[in-house]
Amino acid sequence: MIKDKNIILGVCGGIAAYKSVELLRLMKKAGADVKVVMTSSALEFVGELTFKVLSENHVCTGLFNSGDSSVRHIEWASRADAALIAPATANMIGKMARGIADDALSTMMMAVKAPVMICPSMNTYMYENRALQRNLDILEQDGVIILEPGSGELACKTSGAGRLPEPELIFDRLVKLFHPCDMKGKKVIVTAGPTREAMDPVRYISNHSSGKMGYAVAEAAEKRGAMVTLITGPVSIAPPFGVELIKVTTAHEMANAVLSSMDDADIIIKVAAVADYRPLAPRENKIKKDQMDSRNNSLTLDLVENPDILKMVGERKRNQFLAGFAAETENLIANALAKIKKKNLDMIAANIVGREDSGFEADTNKITLLSKDGSSKELPLLSKQQAAHELLDHILGKIKHQVLAR
Ligand code: CTP
Repeated sequence: MIKDKNIILGVCGGIAAYKSVELLRLMKKAGADVKVVMTSSALEFVGELTFKVLSENHVCTGLFNSGDSSVRHIEWASRADAALIAPATANMIGKMARGIADDALSTMMMAVKAPVMICPSMNTYMYENRALQRNLDILEQDGVIILEPGSGELACKTSGAGRLPEPELIFDRLVKLFHPCDMKGKKVIVTAGPTREAMDPVRYISNHSSGKMGYAVAEAAEKRGAMVTLITGPVSIAPPFGVELIKVTTAHEMANAVLSSMDDADIIIKVAAVADYRPLAPRENKIKKDQMDSRNNSLTLDLVENPDILKMVGERKRNQFLAGFAAETENLIANALAKIKKKNLDMIAANIVGREDSGFEADTNKITLLSKDGSSKELPLLSKQQAAHELLDHILGKIKHQVLAR
């Protein structure tokens, strides 16, 4: 989303200024054109050359020492698609709130028309200071996005709020600015990953689900402004920023989590690959080899059916949009359509699994969106992130249609 975008990165003087270097690297890796503006205090902490090399641009360090036209602050500001200040010191926050322009960064910020995000970072007592908080309130009212600092031990050895968030989080929130906000106010529940059903304390039954598709759906909805609860089985990927994360292991735990949070949800998307069966009587101790049937070296495990969570949600839902995923290896469309009926769904994403480029562990997916009204949309092979956005576009279209038809 930020490829080829013009971003101003303002760096103020704070010990956390070194993190802005990594932040710049993340933005450049994503294809953004980044223009760095450093205050004179920032230059005390990190060298101009580091930012110059990494940004592949001139670094602005003052109003009058740029060596060329003194209107750089206007030119960069007018071209910017977004401006980000990390770290933002109490001094810079005060200047921006009160309209003071006495250095390159504060002057440039007065001319920026694009969205502005700031990341306050300072000692806890400074952060709690009333004047600083008043200034942050003013900036918020002016439409500036404020990324709250994290808590923890600070460089000054005090502990509390004031830490600059990690570069990955700042980068993620910057990317969010470029997404449409078309899911604002919607509560969305997404399930993802596999479930695990214990055989004994060391073994379980599960499936190959990586969680990538469900996590991509949760991330896409959060980026588009939704309040997202992600109910996830055990996976090894990092959760998206900004979602409420509920970790479960078994199908029963997933069922409890979904049923207890579904009532105020607007949209429920069940991407999880729930284990259909679980061992009837998981052993308390590890199953030993000598417990096998010695006649044919076999072990018989009795399985019992797990609750069908999607079907339970389908029976209970009221005026809520319910989407499932159908993981199929054959008869894709017929099997998926049958699941819409059986589970009372509004739509299903039919998904061929077991192929290298589409399915559980792949980074891409090929899905067909089928609706209860009989319409269908076959998507090309897409990254799971792209497929997630297509899925959400489709759901929002259907919801709009339902509202208009009412
Ligand atoms: N699902 C569920 N609870 C289960 C099984 C499946 O909530 N016990 C949901 C999945 O999250 C998915 C949808 O049902 O959204 C379809 O899952 P899938 O595994 O494709 O189908 P099943 O219903 O399990 O049927 P089958 O195994 O016969 O294909």
